[in-house]
Amino acid sequence: MIINSDDDKNINTSNQLDAKEIDFDKSFESSIRPKTFDDYIGQSELKETLSISIESAKKREQSIDHMLFYGPPGLGKTTLAGVIANEMGVNIKITSAPALERPRDIIGILMSLKAGEILFIDEIHRLNKVAEEILYPAMEDFFIDMMTGKSQGTKNLRIPVPKFTLIGATTKAGSLSGPLRDRFGIIHRLEFYTIQELMQVLARTAKILDIKIDKDGLNAIARRSRGTPRIANRLIKRVRDYALVRYDSDINGTIANEALDLLKIDQVGLNSMDRNLLKLIIEKYDGGPVGIETIAAALCEDVKTIEDVCEPYLLQAGLILRTPRGRKVSPEGYRLLNIVPNTMQASLFD
Ligand code: ADE
Repeated sequence: MIINSDDDKNINTSNQLDAKEIDFDKSFESSIRPKTFDDYIGQSELKETLSISIESAKKREQSIDHMLFYGPPGLGKTTLAGVIANEMGVNIKITSAPALERPRDIIGILMSLKAGEILFIDEIHRLNKVAEEILYPAMEDFFIDMMTGKSQGTKNLRIPVPKFTLIGATTKAGSLSGPLRDRFGIIHRLEFYTIQELMQVLARTAKILDIKIDKDGLNAIARRSRGTPRIANRLIKRVRDYALVRYDSDINGTIANEALDLLKIDQVGLNSMDRNLLKLIIEKYDGGPVGIETIAAALCEDVKTIEDVCEPYLLQAGLILRTPRGRKVSPEGYRLLNIVPNTMQASLFD
């Protein structure tokens, strides 16, 4: 891809880009982020394969292959990229596709990298065509092509970029273009966490934040965190506040359940939006199938929120089903809401 960059002087090669260099020790929030594989709970198969790739790259004294992580939000894709950088002993620059709108954004960031560094691009499925085509030769052969100057005096410049590793993250692997996906040497899906794993994440967070909580308390929060560490880490802070204000106490199972009920998070972690979605399909569309656009419009939410935030867990928990004609509520979904499907009601009167 040739980029006609008349304004290449505007390309920012300094470090003050949209990219953030993570200093994992600086912010309070980042203090609960694990920094090593030993600290990183869950995703055990993924950790094992990644450790091998890292050790091999270190032995060969080369940078690690480009990696793509996909899966629902909150499962630790950015955290994992930080762990990989730390384990490799290299710097990481973090950005997201919407921040790379103009050619000079992506060129600037590529030119600012040093050999071995990791570039993390979140929401990589949202990269535009031009940015993607700048990335291809950079990922494959570590150069970018640029045309400088005005029409008559244009000059083609082939600029080398240091050997870097791109880590892309996406909630929608299917939306990534084929050519971009093919340039990643390592592609992995992050899985939802088990209750046990979430309890370990919560115990670690509680220790770091000096929150006193017993095993029942950990279990109550883990059960309602829909398999997602980001949710678990958010809920423990709300439960801590509730325990302190209402009971002036540490967290136990009873207090945690009370606090989560108040937050309208049910026994399996569904919030009011999830329940409204299920109810809508059942009550207005007789259990479905119904299209995602119709669901989103009826709930006054955007399709992306429904698809990326709500749906993955409802699907994984088997509460809704995806069919070619739209979404349906499963028998489990009906049972959870204590609603008897119409067909069964009819059969009662047969
Ligand atoms: N915090 C968020 N994700 C985590 C994980 N996988 N392990 C430990 N702490 C976490």
